[in-house]
Amino acid sequence: MLRGIMEGSTQSDCFAVNLRFLKEDLENRDIKLCDQHQHQNLILQVGGEEGETELTVRDGDGVCVFKFSVGRETECCRAGTQSLLITLGYISVLLQFRSDSEFCDFYNVLKSCRASKKEQSVFHQRTDDSSALQYFQFYGCLSQQQNMLQDFLRTATYHKAILQNEVDFKNKVVLDVGCGSGILSFFAIQAGARKVYAVEASSVAKYAKILVKSNNLSEKIIVLAGKIEEVSFPENVDIIISEPIGYMLLNERMLESYLHSKKWLKPKGMMFPTFSDIHLAPFTDEPLYMEHYSRSKFWHQTCFYGINLTGLHNASVEEYFRQPVVDTFDMRILVAKSIKYTINFLEAKEEDLHRMEIPFVFQLLQSGLIHGLAFWFDVAFVGSQVTVWLSTSPSEPLTHWYQVRCLLKTPLFARAGETLTGKVLLVANKRQSYDIHIAATVEQSGFKSGNVLDLKNPFFRYA
Ligand SMILES: C[S@@+](CC[C@H](N)C(=O)[O-])C[C@H]1O[C@@H](n2cnc3c(N)ncnc32)[C@H](O)[C@@H]1O
Repeated sequence: MLRGIMEGSTQSDCFAVNLRFLKEDLENRDIKLCDQHQHQNLILQVGGEEGETELTVRDGDGVCVFKFSVGRETECCRAGTQSLLITLGYISVLLQFRSDSEFCDFYNVLKSCRASKKEQSVFHQRTDDSSALQYFQFYGCLSQQQNMLQDFLRTATYHKAILQNEVDFKNKVVLDVGCGSGILSFFAIQAGARKVYAVEASSVAKYAKILVKSNNLSEKIIVLAGKIEEVSFPENVDIIISEPIGYMLLNERMLESYLHSKKWLKPKGMMFPTFSDIHLAPFTDEPLYMEHYSRSKFWHQTCFYGINLTGLHNASVEEYFRQPVVDTFDMRILVAKSIKYTINFLEAKEEDLHRMEIPFVFQLLQSGLIHGLAFWFDVAFVGSQVTVWLSTSPSEPLTHWYQVRCLLKTPLFARAGETLTGKVLLVANKRQSYDIHIAATVEQSGFKSGNVLDLKNPFFRYA
């Protein structure tokens, strides 16, 4: 989960290979591996520009053995799980890699080199480059991965959800979307998974590879550097695991990447987590409202080094009020029972998350001022053996997601027994976040208020 900043992926572009040529016997209508022309222990280097990839194969002394270009029209296909067959005119060559993992890496590097700008991935289309750069820089830091790993409730709940549903993992092929340090992939192996494809777009992928190797799991966990929207796998998977959760569940828009990954899921495959409930409830908190308002006091000065700043006071108030507040609170500030909005990850499509409308009707339990709406979420792992819940409710132990509160521009007075109706509209933006539109009316008095907030830029209020 992201706080503050966040780049590109690192992809190794040198691979150990064997090179074999295929010979066509036109008389016997036969294709054979040509034994005189096979080279062992070579180094394959990938280079070139968009649309045209240059592959250079060198021997141990650095002497070039073979060099060719692979363009969008070049005929090439996977052969088995570790080899690529490339046909160049009358010559066909077989590049044999050392492991499934190295083949996957190469295949994805080749794929991204061959892709044209027109074929931009779903991720690219929905994300500003500057946002993506900052986002993956953030996750490339081990300190950020550590921060998530040390959220005991988060990590221990994932561990429990996976280990207590062993049957769903035993001998299964797993996909870990956004594997970070690789922690969930290791849990899947502990539960008996046969193979895990662990995809990570930030540079932390190289650290995940180190952990996989040092834990002697290179045969089982294949770490792929790249975005889930852009990588390929040699097979479909039985279960997808991921921790794609941001503030208010939706910040970062990683849930869309999680849903995108279903293109690799076998029919009747499983998703961990399986669904999520976003909860919302009106709250009263005069001190929070006053504190937020007084942040703009600075702009009330009429003589700051002789300058009158008051002309910017309103703009400053507006700016602060666009910030959702991230912190925790006592449940007693809630003035109605929460309602929930469910997202079922097995059924939802990426587009479903582009614009979400959450209508609400709250029966108010006490009289007084309503200052805004509080949000939190629960996610459920529905396994064959048990369903495990991860909750960020204010009634549960605190997680690094805290809770999120959205203030109304003006508080609403209402009496116990009255009804607060309205809607929350969540609109995804290219900054990997959401604009939150709130409109609320006290039915009995007709009092109205609302606000538009920017989830990308929250105010972190916790100590
Ligand atoms: C919230 S972290 C979780 C990391 C790890 N799974 C864990 O549980 O500790 C999300 C990770 O997903 C990665 N990520 C986000 N979007 C991605 C995408 N589209 N493709 C691949 N990785 C992505 C981020 O770089 C980050 O490391």
